Amino acid sequence: MTPDPVTVPEEFASALSLARGRLGIFASQVLWYPEVGSTNDIAGVMAERGAAEGLVVLADRQTAGRGRLGRSWASPSGAGIYVSVVLRPSMTAATLLPIAAGVAVAEGIASATALSPHVKWPNDVHISGRKLAGILAEGAVGHVVLGIGINVASAAYPADVAARATSIEAELSRPVDRGLVLAECLAALASRYRELQDGRGRHVVDAWRSRAASMLGRRVEWESAGTRHVGLAENIDDDGALIVKVAAGTQRVRSGEVRWL
Ligand code: BTN
Repeated sequence: MTPDPVTVPEEFASALSLARGRLGIFASQVLWYPEVGSTNDIAGVMAERGAAEGLVVLADRQTAGRGRLGRSWASPSGAGIYVSVVLRPSMTAATLLPIAAGVAVAEGIASATALSPHVKWPNDVHISGRKLAGILAEGAVGHVVLGIGINVASAAYPADVAARATSIEAELSRPVDRGLVLAECLAALASRYRELQDGRGRHVVDAWRSRAASMLGRRVEWESAGTRHVGLAENIDDDGALIVKVAAGTQRVRSGEVRWL
């Protein structure tokens, strides 16, 4: 059973209303929950029940927030943006969706603040070498749920998270408006998603490359089938795979995670 949504708080409602003309598919339906297990679960259930593309599910707090690769996502009340959207991309658009989402979140944060975040393959958003936001894309037949977690305020994160993470407010040393950050991220995502759906994925890939300065040209390591690999991250290709220079030539990393060395 899914909980019932309540009225969207003013902090978010006013920012979304001001940005309405730029929200594209995300302008129509926004659901707010004070607390959920995971916004991805709520959005997934609604997508299965036929929710229209563009549904936005927001929560103040998640009790079972999920990250990539089976990790959890710390989601304390008031400290972050926890949002999932329902998309119904073409097969081609779906391939580049994680890349587009990372770019859009970095662009949205840049528009709402004075920060200039970087992307880390495939779709993390970083600043000063620390993680600011993460994205979890979960696909099923006929839809993809894209879940976005943005660290807005400093919070009592678990020690392992605190060591690798930062927040918008910690970087700016001032409070920020969560609604504005959300509205700018959704506006950027609507626009990048439109590009993908219209067959203009190359623009998205170019935008990703221009925000990947801290990643490209650096030594990285990753695991595949239980074996550790090391190489120099060179670029992403037009399908969003990471191209890494290794001793024997180049390798294409299509999924998983790389670590900087
Ligand atoms: C990652 O970097 O590991 C991805 C983190 C994704 C977190 C968001 S928060 C909103 C949505 N609901 C979830 O349970 N996860 C995503």
